[in-house]
Amino acid sequence: MRKVYLVTGGCGFIGSNFIHFLMKTEDDITIVNLDKLTYAGNLKNVEAYATDSRYVFIHGDIGDRNCVRDVFETYHPQVVVNFAAESHVDRSISGPGDFINTNIVGTYQLLNESLNYFKELSEPDQERFRFHHISTDEVYGSLGDDGYFTEDTAYDPSSPYSASKASSDHLARAWYRTFGLPVLITNCSNNYGPYQFPEKLIPLMILNCLERKPLPVYGDGQNIRDWLYVDDHCDAIFQVIQNGTIGETYNIGGNNEIRNLEIVQTICDILDEFRPNPKLKSYRDLITFVKDRPGHDFRYAINATKIKTDLGWVPKHSFTAGIRKTVKWYLQNEPWWEFIRSGEYLNYYCKQYRSLNAV
Ligand code: NAD
Ligand code: DAU
Repeated sequence: MRKVYLVTGGCGFIGSNFIHFLMKTEDDITIVNLDKLTYAGNLKNVEAYATDSRYVFIHGDIGDRNCVRDVFETYHPQVVVNFAAESHVDRSISGPGDFINTNIVGTYQLLNESLNYFKELSEPDQERFRFHHISTDEVYGSLGDDGYFTEDTAYDPSSPYSASKASSDHLARAWYRTFGLPVLITNCSNNYGPYQFPEKLIPLMILNCLERKPLPVYGDGQNIRDWLYVDDHCDAIFQVIQNGTIGETYNIGGNNEIRNLEIVQTICDILDEFRPNPKLKSYRDLITFVKDRPGHDFRYAINATKIKTDLGWVPKHSFTAGIRKTVKWYLQNEPWWEFIRSGEYLNYYCKQYRSLNAV
């Protein structure tokens, strides 16, 4: 039987990588991609499927009940994977409103419409149905020098972004405990790889190097993140959807704790090798320390024992391999990022939005 996935936020970074992953992994599949096309949603990330009979794009908002209801009634998904979110911490500091609307209210509407649909399914279809909510390790707050986040760590979010994600996790859990919706939740560490919007640390640094712009390192650059190659995250999500226990949370991490400054220096060194700039001794000369992010969490580190023990998932990419692959991807996909960086992107984004709305 053909499996129908409703992927929300499939035009963003992880959602589009997940669609590529599913297309490679599953044989008999339909993917319905519901995306609002915010600044972070780019149809070019999934343009390979524009005319593919296994793929449908719906321009819509997870917070729009009527739209979500129509999608359920028309496509009858067996799996919902909710990537749709406002995802950038710095933007949540300068303007938290969209984070509340999409991450909290939007998730609520999506959960509610999923439940209404679920209640009408036959028993065997209810058995098969899954709602997979994608979340972040940032809900656990900040670690000091020691310790790891486990699935039992108390939530302690610092930024409007992480507070909104924490809220959405609680809602997803409540829809399982109170209403019986078959929810799965994953909390993942920092992802990197192809199609990441160049506001996030790794793509921003790669592109600033190529454009010989300053590399802004917040504070003293000693903050630590646990980095995971995006394809490994997609694989973990897939394993949880296939074999995860309903109502459970799984932490996903790369076991790759690295200080920000070291990340930036590594990118500089790789580019010195792949694309040396005759005007610079090293790209490291572009590193510039700037004012710290308010409420900047010091360290994230995931204990991923549960997903390893219960589902056999381990990451396949070392950071050394993943970061070289990522730098190469940005070097080989200049039109993708030049377009975004040119400023024409916002025009295009408004046009894609308007023309889709006119349909
Ligand atoms: P992204 O910003 O690249 O993409 C978000 C996508 O969601 C975009 O396509 C956007 O258009 C869409 N969207 C936003 N609001 C919407 C709405 N109301 N309705 C429908 N679509 C909407 O984000 P990302 O980095 O791919 O993150 C995806 C998910 O993974 C998020 O939930 C995020 O919290 C989570 N996450 C991200 C990371 C990371 O390192 N990037 C790590 C762990 C978890
Ligand atoms: O941990 C998972 C989270 O990782 C996800 O939930 C978020 O969606 C994702 O954006 C990411 O959040 P971070 O805030 O950790 O990612 P970001 O790439 O913005 O920053 C990584 C680190 O680098 C962080 O300590 C801040 C620092 N930084 C970031 C930027 C953009 C800089 O020093 N300079 C920069 O210009």
